Amino acid sequence: MRPITPQPGNDRDPENFVGRVATTARARERLKAGANLLLTAPRRMGKTFWMLSFAAREAGFRPYFIDYEGTNTVEEFLSKTVNALLESSDLPTKTRKVLKTVFKNIKSVGVPGILTIQPYHRATSPHKLLQEILITLDDQEGLIPLILMDEVPMAIEAIGKNEGQEAARALLQTLRAIRQANPNISWIVAGSIGFHHVLTLVDATSGELYDLEPLRLELMPSEESQELASRLLLGINIQPEAAVVAELIAVGGGMPAIQHMVVSSLKQRLSAGTALGPQEVRECFEDSIDSQDEFRWLMDIDKRISFYYGQRTELAERVLCTALSSEHRWLKITDLSQEAELPQQQELTKIINILCDDHYLEIRGKSVRWRYPVFQYIWARKNMIWERP
Ligand SMILES: Nc1ncnc2c1ncn2[C@@H]1O[C@H](COP(=O)(O)OP(=O)(O)OP(=O)(O)O)[C@@H](O)[C@H]1O
Ligand SMILES: [Mg+2]
Repeated sequence: MRPITPQPGNDRDPENFVGRVATTARARERLKAGANLLLTAPRRMGKTFWMLSFAAREAGFRPYFIDYEGTNTVEEFLSKTVNALLESSDLPTKTRKVLKTVFKNIKSVGVPGILTIQPYHRATSPHKLLQEILITLDDQEGLIPLILMDEVPMAIEAIGKNEGQEAARALLQTLRAIRQANPNISWIVAGSIGFHHVLTLVDATSGELYDLEPLRLELMPSEESQELASRLLLGINIQPEAAVVAELIAVGGGMPAIQHMVVSSLKQRLSAGTALGPQEVRECFEDSIDSQDEFRWLMDIDKRISFYYGQRTELAERVLCTALSSEHRWLKITDLSQEAELPQQQELTKIINILCDDHYLEIRGKSVRWRYPVFQYIWARKNMIWERP
């Protein structure tokens, strides 16, 4: 078994990518059937790492991974796209040719960098250029071109703020038009922010995404968690003993990022010469929750509530608090509204739907509960509602 050095931040090496067999098989099958996918999951579930590993490992596709983090204008969206394409070793000749007619400084073996648009194309809208460039990826030869776009909602949100709602909406429409006009090109779109918030901010409807089929990245199944736990322990020179592995799986709750985090802080403790048993794993996890620096991403989720929920923030938090259940029990919405003295049904239903879109809650008929016990636990501990055992 190959050791994995814990890297809670940004592990991007496909050699260190574990499992996700079900998601990968589903993605492969749906893409081959002609579907385009919208990858959804809570923060830190492993979306980006999955996309990169899918791109690196999957035969049958010619992948182009594009990260749109930090994109503030439609023009930047275009240049990020072009730079990502240029990094590809087997870009179709047709694409390189079009890029050369549009941009001044494209070398024959493309090196990404600052792009300058040729004078002739300065008046052409970046939307049109995007369209003209992306369609050339369909070169009809063997492998299916696969565009993997990460952090798209973040880009749409920033473009909306910088260039106005209309520019952001127009970009969503352009992307959809390109997808629909080119059935031979496959797409996977993802981001760390849910599209639903962003659509509201730019006054668009989910119609812009109707052609995308949702692909959910769920908690990691236990046999995959087991492999990850064992390899991470080996990565810090610990023989993966059954009891320690089991505790690591338990605290991780199916989130690979938590396992990485706990093992990376275990490593620091071990240098102080401590013995390692399940108790140390648990302590490490609990210390991480109490720490202000670790599990920062979970605090981001909290901050996101106040950022995106606006006036509904307090209500959302009350709903989440009332829905807490250590037995992971379903709670009837009528009981929820009574216990939390919540407003009328309509407003409550709305907030529950948003909390479901954000992966906090799940619905069954007229009942709700926290979707992921591990999130519930960390949230309740971070908000000092539950005590440390
Ligand atoms: N399948 C996996 N195998 C091993 N480690 C994983 C796996 N998936 C995720 N991880 C760990 O979790 C971390 C977070 O993953 P990633 O950055 O892909 O999450 P994300 O869902 O894209 O998060 P965000 O919403 O913040 O963009 C990785 O850096 C890695 O440490
Ligand atoms: Mg990501």
